[in-house]
Amino acid sequence: MTLGPKQAWDPEQYARNARFVAVLALPVVALLAPQPGERIVDLGCGDGELTAQITALGCRVVGVDASAEMVAAACARGLDARQLDAEELQLSEELAGWCDAVFTNAVLHWVRDPARALEGVRRALRPGGRFVGEFGGEGNVATIRTALDEALARRGLSVPSPWYLPAPEAFGALLEEAGFAVTHLERIQRPTLLPGDVSGWLETFGGPYTAALPESERPALLAELVETLRPALCDAEGRWWADYVRIRFAAERR
Ligand code: BEZ
Repeated sequence: MTLGPKQAWDPEQYARNARFVAVLALPVVALLAPQPGERIVDLGCGDGELTAQITALGCRVVGVDASAEMVAAACARGLDARQLDAEELQLSEELAGWCDAVFTNAVLHWVRDPARALEGVRRALRPGGRFVGEFGGEGNVATIRTALDEALARRGLSVPSPWYLPAPEAFGALLEEAGFAVTHLERIQRPTLLPGDVSGWLETFGGPYTAALPESERPALLAELVETLRPALCDAEGRWWADYVRIRFAAERR
């Protein structure tokens, strides 16, 4: 699989445009069912919003994230967060066999090599440990992706998808191959209310696409996309919805 360019993260912009990501993850935390005293890695912890919530339940939580800026934001709220890519977990000797559970929300669709990421998660878990999470699945933000592809094509540009968005069956098979027993696997159509129009979403998550254009041309691209997407994503009350499709899963290390 070839995924497109990587994304840069800005904690303030993320808090402004994407706080809904953590708010909507509460059912995933419920599926994790963290028990006081458990040792948990929050894979792709971002600014630590969910790391803090799981810590408050009495768990010993280590957040890991590829973004130095996000790790700094998580550490600034007193959390134990370390800079580590989701695909580099197997390089951590310190975390090997340490975890009762690995939790991940809205991260796996960014990985370039999912099999490698799962290998690292398995290595971090004790035998019988749980891997629980949610991420974008097949069809996720399809309307937005099509509009981005078409807008770039009008400019003679093409960007390979930066996102891993598998069908649940394919992800379940990958988990089994990686040495997990799948205990929960669900595809969820979840139209997601955005805090403003789609330009905030595009600024926060669309970096791999907008980076194909010189900075001076990006505002015009965003304005054009807002108008292209308005009929599909903006309702009669002026609220904007992103066409999210999630894979929610739980698995145990064999
Ligand atoms: C998601 O959470 O599904 C997502 C976020 C940004 C880009 C693509 C997908």
